[in-house]
Amino acid sequence: MCGIVGYVGTRDAGDVLVKGLKRLEYRGYDSAGVAILNGEMSVQKGKGKVINLEKSLAANEIKGHIGIGHTRWATHGEPNDVNSHPHLSESGRIAVVHNGIIENYNSLKRKLTENGRTFHSQTDTEIIAQLIEEIYTGSDKITFEQAIQLTLKQIVGTYGLAIVNLDTPDKIYIARKGSPLLLGIGENEMFIASDASPIVEYTNKVVYLDDGEMAVVDANSYEVKTIDDVALTKEVHELAISLDAIEKAGYPHFMLKEIFEQPRSIADCLRGRINEKNGTIQLGGIAEVMDDLVNAKRIVIAACGTSWHSGLVGEYLFEHLAKTPVEVEYASEFRYRDPLIGEGDVMLVISQSGETADTLAALREAKARGAMVLGICNVVGSTISRETDAGVFTHAGPEIGVASTKAFTAQVVVLTMMALKLGIEKGHINKKQAKEYIRELAAIPDKVDQILKGCDDVTQDMAKLFTYAPNFLYLGRSYNFPVALEGALKLKEISYIHAEGYPAAEMKHGPIALIDEMMPVVVIAATDHTNDKMVSNIEEVKARKGRIISIMNSENSEVKDLSEFSISIPSTKDCFSPLLTVIPLQLLSYYIAVNRGCNVDQPRNLAKSVTVE
Ligand code: AGP
Repeated sequence: MCGIVGYVGTRDAGDVLVKGLKRLEYRGYDSAGVAILNGEMSVQKGKGKVINLEKSLAANEIKGHIGIGHTRWATHGEPNDVNSHPHLSESGRIAVVHNGIIENYNSLKRKLTENGRTFHSQTDTEIIAQLIEEIYTGSDKITFEQAIQLTLKQIVGTYGLAIVNLDTPDKIYIARKGSPLLLGIGENEMFIASDASPIVEYTNKVVYLDDGEMAVVDANSYEVKTIDDVALTKEVHELAISLDAIEKAGYPHFMLKEIFEQPRSIADCLRGRINEKNGTIQLGGIAEVMDDLVNAKRIVIAACGTSWHSGLVGEYLFEHLAKTPVEVEYASEFRYRDPLIGEGDVMLVISQSGETADTLAALREAKARGAMVLGICNVVGSTISRETDAGVFTHAGPEIGVASTKAFTAQVVVLTMMALKLGIEKGHINKKQAKEYIRELAAIPDKVDQILKGCDDVTQDMAKLFTYAPNFLYLGRSYNFPVALEGALKLKEISYIHAEGYPAAEMKHGPIALIDEMMPVVVIAATDHTNDKMVSNIEEVKARKGRIISIMNSENSEVKDLSEFSISIPSTKDCFSPLLTVIPLQLLSYYIAVNRGCNVDQPRNLAKSVTVE
């Protein structure tokens, strides 16, 4: 997820663009840049935060009244100067900033390269600038607007775009498909941004572009049309929220925003990787090592915290779907255990930040002993992602809240795709089964959306009852045992309530002594093949007056009748259930923490990335 800004008017464009990018840094902050038209195309861009850009703009005294800017969350190509936006066409007369993912950029890049165009970056965005120029200069009958429209029709994927061209130095061209973009209407000036936060201090009049639409903007006017050149009249909205609230898109905390982003972040993680029609999965980042994975004696997963929990889900996934033995290790324990790992083994490290010291050390230990090391990371260009032999990015976008939510579900989605692909490659999943799995996986974002809409109120009501409970117990079986651990961790780290996650059957071997009428017990009963056993566990808790909160499949009346509170979720395959059962647990911990007045986004004693031992 990146941030885009644009400005045309009478102010100093550099000032407006930099200020706007600072407001959008929560969307991505690994590199930033601007292109300003002042008789020539002046581009200033580079790795690092917007403050670095601001200094270089001042030092180079780049002035002008029209320009575009970008703060990056890398998806293709690591964060460095050449991959930062804006990207230029070969002539240097066209500049583009882009938020989104071009799925067919490889084929488009190949075609443009065959036509003699040279590329400088590893990004998908650069092909947009090059393709527009290829079409625009290819015929003197095509206007620049038409060249943009023809380009967008060849693109598969998502985009929020702002484009400038030295041939039309008073105009900015914008287009949207899948990534937000809006236009702020001022007095003899116009503002463009990915959301309202860079605009709200100048004007409260905005036009929201919708998918498949573009606009041509100058200081005094704008024209909105479809990419099929059909003119549109768009409603002008009045912004009515504060600046601070906007950076959280109207949510009170980043954590709640990120919980509610999950339908989108899961869809982004799946985008371009699953093909329902053919029943195939494409994971470009590990394509070259698939044979090693197929022939691996075992997979050792190493991670910390929430990422360790997603690794535990991965164990069930790989063993069930691909019949590959898996061991899951705390990275901190693995690195000091003189581990038995070497040639023929595959280590898979999982890390949202890609900077966790223990996980990095475990990676280096395994590599030094001859194992192949793969990674699942959310931050492109992070240390772990650069030191692994290959890997898959989660594309969840920046996760600002310290308590991990959308990164967890994105990690589980990647593990699911890897396990399915491995199962297909090893012949354990046939074409018909593959299509069925992929069809259900593609339905997960909508099911998550249903849960968020359906259980938000009930979790708020439950939170009120349990805000001051001294302890919680979370129980789950099979795929949902790791979810019990994750639910307990979420509650611990943001509400400071002591909570334990356990395999449900294990409760009988000690923890049951804790249960009385003061103990809320969250039971995750959404795994069909263990449902009868879960019912017995619930009966055991009930017999000792435990207060039962159950997360269950909607038709599970047996569990519902035994529960004091129950949240029902849409049914899905057992192997996909963690993606759904974790959602109510994220919300429950969030609302309890808010009721307790805790600092939800920055809980005491914690850091977003633990880069120390
Ligand atoms: C999860 O909510 C915590 N913030 C923490 O356990 C985190 O998952 C752990 O520190 C690992 O971080 P990583 O995924 O960035 O490696």
